[in-house]
Amino acid sequence: MESLLIYGAYGYTGERIARTAVERGRSPILAGRNPEPLHSLAADLGLRSRTFALDDDIEPQLAGIETVLNCAGPFEKTADPLVEACLNRGLDYLDITGELPVFERLARRDDEASAAGTTLLPGVGFDVVPTDCLAAHLTSRLDEPTQLSVAISATGSLSGGTIKTLINGLGSGSAVRENSHLRSIPTGSKSRVVDFGEGNRTVISVPLGDLTTAYHSTGVPDITTYVAVPDAAVHAIRLGRPLERVLSTTPVTRLLTRVVDRFVDGPTDAERAEGGTTIWGEAWSEPTGDTVESVLRTPDPYDVTVEAALAASEATGEVDAGYQTPATAFGPDFATELPGVSREDR
Ligand SMILES: NC(=O)c1ccc[n+]([C@@H]2O[C@H](COP(=O)([O-])OP(=O)(O)OC[C@H]3O[C@@H](n4cnc5c(N)ncnc54)[C@H](OP(=O)(O)O)[C@@H]3O)[C@@H](O)[C@H]2O)c1
Repeated sequence: MESLLIYGAYGYTGERIARTAVERGRSPILAGRNPEPLHSLAADLGLRSRTFALDDDIEPQLAGIETVLNCAGPFEKTADPLVEACLNRGLDYLDITGELPVFERLARRDDEASAAGTTLLPGVGFDVVPTDCLAAHLTSRLDEPTQLSVAISATGSLSGGTIKTLINGLGSGSAVRENSHLRSIPTGSKSRVVDFGEGNRTVISVPLGDLTTAYHSTGVPDITTYVAVPDAAVHAIRLGRPLERVLSTTPVTRLLTRVVDRFVDGPTDAERAEGGTTIWGEAWSEPTGDTVESVLRTPDPYDVTVEAALAASEATGEVDAGYQTPATAFGPDFATELPGVSREDR
């Protein structure tokens, strides 16, 4: 009997993961806080469901479960209660977060998770499976790697939940990892030009989850993560730093969240078929002076998320307890084993 529970199952991404699981003969238990959409999806897919909110007593709801896959974001609000319940019951915890503070908090619970026999594996979606595997691959190509950079160039649309998660993070600025420590830097203060293989693009530093996960996967002390933006946006972001503070105030984020609820349903199948990403990475060894570059190409991030989360949920039982990243759990080739993902070394 299937012992996977998908929390947040009726959200845009959770539903896609649940539907694909059923198409592949699996029968996860669906969960979430709102009975109506949950029961309707469970009935449609012929699956069992459990309704509970995260301020309820969660542990009894996890009876008979071995692995929890949390798809309810922003994870800043949902990860802690589910992780707590998993640690208390010795269950494995997976999620599809890309939020840096969540990775940091879970990484700090490594000893606790090892003692509980729990695997804590956040970030089994597009964030951070391809980038984390690319980081591990790059550093395996070098002796004594000391610096790592990763940059994402994406096309395609975002779902409402992803936009709300981005809104939640507005105004918190950017960050880099330096000498093994996270350091805050203003948004857009670090930029460079990257050859993604389709012409050069300007990238600006953003605080991706890889600042934690790549550090754990590779041990490299200096890491910067970037996304590609149009040149005009680079100037706007630099000029607009005071705007960042306005955007991050609670009334503004509440208003933006309501707008997203009203208008954004998430990318359609056709939009996802058009979407895709190129991920560039570079590792450098200061002692030897050697540099290596690799590039990953992926389908639309939501499709990668569905495939990666399902593959991770099938294999978590064999992973050591403690805090894990996709690359420490499944190796650097985990990403390239997903459909449509390819890698090229330079
Ligand atoms: N790793 C990746 O690459 C990746 C890919 C896709 C999505 N994501 C992230 O995954 C999250 C979900 O995205 P989505 O597109 O599926 O969004 P969505 O359609 O808005 O779904 C969000 C789901 O989370 C639930 N939820 C939110 N806050 C909750 C809370 N406090 N307690 C209980 N349930 C809660 C929602 O339930 P209600 O409707 O009851 O609020 C809903 O089921 C976002 O944070 C997004 O950024 C990450």
